Amino acid sequence: MNKAGKLSSDASEKGDLRMPAKVDMDKIVSLCKRRGLVFPSSEIYGGLASCWDYGPMGVELKRNVRDAWWKAIVHERDDVVGLDTSIMMHPGVWAASGHIDSFTDPLVECKSCHLRWRADAIEGKGCPKCGGELTEPRMFNLMFKTSMGPVEEEASTIYLRPETAQGIFVNFDNVITTSRKKLPLGIAQIGKSFRNEITTGNFIFRTREFEHMELEYFVKPGTDEKWLDYWVKERFDWYVKLGIRKENLRLRQHGKDELAHYARDCYDIDYLFPMGWSELEGIANRGDFDLIQHAKHSGKELGYYDAEADEKYVPYVIEPSAGVDRSVLAFLIDAYDEEEIEGEKRTLLHLHRDLAPIKVAVLPLSRNEKLTPLAKEVFNKLCPNFVTDYDDSQSIGRRYRRQDEIGTPFCVTIDFESLEDKQVTIRERDSLAQIRVPIEELDKILEAKLKGEAFDASPLWATREK
Ligand code: GAP
Repeated sequence: MNKAGKLSSDASEKGDLRMPAKVDMDKIVSLCKRRGLVFPSSEIYGGLASCWDYGPMGVELKRNVRDAWWKAIVHERDDVVGLDTSIMMHPGVWAASGHIDSFTDPLVECKSCHLRWRADAIEGKGCPKCGGELTEPRMFNLMFKTSMGPVEEEASTIYLRPETAQGIFVNFDNVITTSRKKLPLGIAQIGKSFRNEITTGNFIFRTREFEHMELEYFVKPGTDEKWLDYWVKERFDWYVKLGIRKENLRLRQHGKDELAHYARDCYDIDYLFPMGWSELEGIANRGDFDLIQHAKHSGKELGYYDAEADEKYVPYVIEPSAGVDRSVLAFLIDAYDEEEIEGEKRTLLHLHRDLAPIKVAVLPLSRNEKLTPLAKEVFNKLCPNFVTDYDDSQSIGRRYRRQDEIGTPFCVTIDFESLEDKQVTIRERDSLAQIRVPIEELDKILEAKLKGEAFDASPLWATREK
């Protein structure tokens, strides 16, 4: 068995096995469909523009992205707590936050083909589709409206939240008084947000329904710039730790004319998507804008008494705000790779082990009736501890390729020798190295490997898949 005890580093530090290949979006969309990651929504009805459904593999990947964020932001810190607030909120929230007045994009319409465009996203004067004359821009509010209760009147109009942040601000006092925590204190939330975007596209990059991962980190005024720098670095490093190549990430500070109505300063973490550098996450210094606005509109004081300094103030807020779906897309693109093994093309995802939808695949060499009971026994032993797949259809080579395409880090093969020596072969996705280990120790070994222990195969029994 493998004697290596050294903890290996993450993909980015390991020396990158991946080609710096730039993949186009069509390949990602097609892989996602083929392997059950993401499907077009309502497909049997012809689909619904910019809406997508996560399939059996996608739901695991998305959950792993959320869990990795929650672990880093909430569980591994003692200065952040979590929250899960309602999607539908009192309409007064959106008046106070400025979303009713300012959450708008300039919209123009083509007088010939009637397509609508975001005025600030088109070049030239004519319609990008047909060259037709465009109307004057009008401001279009991006919030989805609906009505609450059985009476459809103005008083019952509510909005689907366009960000999860406001649920945090309106609960600031509840959390501070019940958690007995001191500042600096962060409140984190993951949940769905809705924006009636004028232009969507690029797969799951910009959609009208998406999932936010937001942290509102409340600090003493005057320390805000320091905390902004801190969170920009933390968030950048999070993507790198989970396998995104540094050279595909960059930081960009917003110009004064670009800042959102609530922001004093803001940095974007951009990723080099197939369509070019685009925002992956924003980290803003929201100052005291939100707490002051909610105090004004609700009539409830929203301040903080700092017992150590014996003073009262309205905290400033640093907000790292990321999209789950957009992160999933960046992780997929960065992990995508194609290589040739002995004249055959292999497509694979070098997903970080924490993100991979399936951690271990159990593959009996064939459906032979002698092998199946042992293979099932191995599967049953592993599945309580790891997300495990069992696959005995088609040739072993094709099954390896299927697992490579969804980024499964380890495949466990049961062969006829296993019946005699009670050992199985573990095959590692990236290096294709194989080690033979006793079934008795399999879960212990896999656990160590999935925590990052090097797949340092001893030359005595190491082989490489042919
Ligand atoms: N609370 C601040 C806020 O929402 P934002 O820059 O509008 O800031 C933050 O959004 C992140 O949410 C973006 O960087 C992106 O990852 C994600 N996001 C925003 N709009 C999105 C959309 N229409 N589709 C998918 N993700 C979106």
